[in-house]
Amino acid sequence: MSDETNLRVPIAPQQVDAPLTRMAIFLVLVVSDADGAMDTVRDVVSGIDDLVKNVAIRDLTGHLSCTVGIGARVWQQLTGRALPAELHPFREVVGARHTAVATPGDVLFHIRSERADLCIELEKQILQAFGESVTVADETQGFRYFDTRDLLGFVDGTANPVGPDLPEATLVGDEDPNYAGGSYVVVQKYTHPLAMWQQLTTEQQEAVIGRRKLDNIELDDAVSGQKSHKTLSTIVDDLGEHDILRDNMPFASPGQGIYGTYFIGYTRHLWVIERMLERMFVGDPPGLHDRLLDFSAVQTGATFFAPSVSLLAAIADAAPSATAAN
Ligand code: HEM
Repeated sequence: MSDETNLRVPIAPQQVDAPLTRMAIFLVLVVSDADGAMDTVRDVVSGIDDLVKNVAIRDLTGHLSCTVGIGARVWQQLTGRALPAELHPFREVVGARHTAVATPGDVLFHIRSERADLCIELEKQILQAFGESVTVADETQGFRYFDTRDLLGFVDGTANPVGPDLPEATLVGDEDPNYAGGSYVVVQKYTHPLAMWQQLTTEQQEAVIGRRKLDNIELDDAVSGQKSHKTLSTIVDDLGEHDILRDNMPFASPGQGIYGTYFIGYTRHLWVIERMLERMFVGDPPGLHDRLLDFSAVQTGATFFAPSVSLLAAIADAAPSATAAN
């Protein structure tokens, strides 16, 4: 829309392809075992639409959006429904040098906005609504770094699907009709030993990523040896290439020497991200892992399902003691 002052509605909730923004918060929560906690969480999660509207209306040009993901451990109790076909807890991937760790996480909030204050305000209202019913497993505030670069200096997000390929790659369809319109979400938090990375030449860094640093042009891999990150994360089979949607964000605290990338991937098929992780951590061929991991220490790993907006609202009616039935 050309005239930003005429914007009327906030971005629809659960819109996984909400616009790229200058700021994002990734909030991973664990539901308490206390009596009534699950009921409180159900109320807050199913009513997230109202909380987002509360904050978004205060500056529609801030493009506030929020996507909620629910993890396998609490799915059935929270929603009163059977698990989506592929949903299971994050599976560790153990390579010879690096391991993709699994860490706790029952509910994910991916909050995006052009304005830091809108993100923080929404997060504050969400946490106040939860009260004692949750504990925070991880909270990361990400920021846009120049032209969507990661802190390693490379443009990140280029190969994301666009146009009709985007819903095709991210939204569940007829293969799991009860969950059509939802999306699997995987998050991982990485920290970078920047001083080590900066010891590489630009050409060495480009060979690790598989793109040129300045102009972002794709590079072919060397004929032998370790494949680049770009190649290891490309999944091709008889049906063609399987894309995912990434909305990674840098995070940093220079005073504490912390520089990182928060990886978030949305996918129609969870196995696609799992295959990417295997190729990165175990390697292709096994043993030749993604060298990006030598400069990226993985701190967390969790999997969620972001239901469609109608399903999310409908879980309000799930009886507190509901059993798994669709
Ligand atoms: C430290 C964490 C990571 C960093 C800094 C990073 C950075 C990058 C960069 C710079 C690119 C090239 C430009 C682009 O297409 O976006 C890229 C591509 C890509 N990355 Fe990552 N990445 C990270 C982790 C991951 C993880 C964990 C996955 C999947 C499980 C992944 C999946 C992909 C995919 C699918 C592509 C596009 C490949 C293609 O089709 O060209 N990345 N990443």
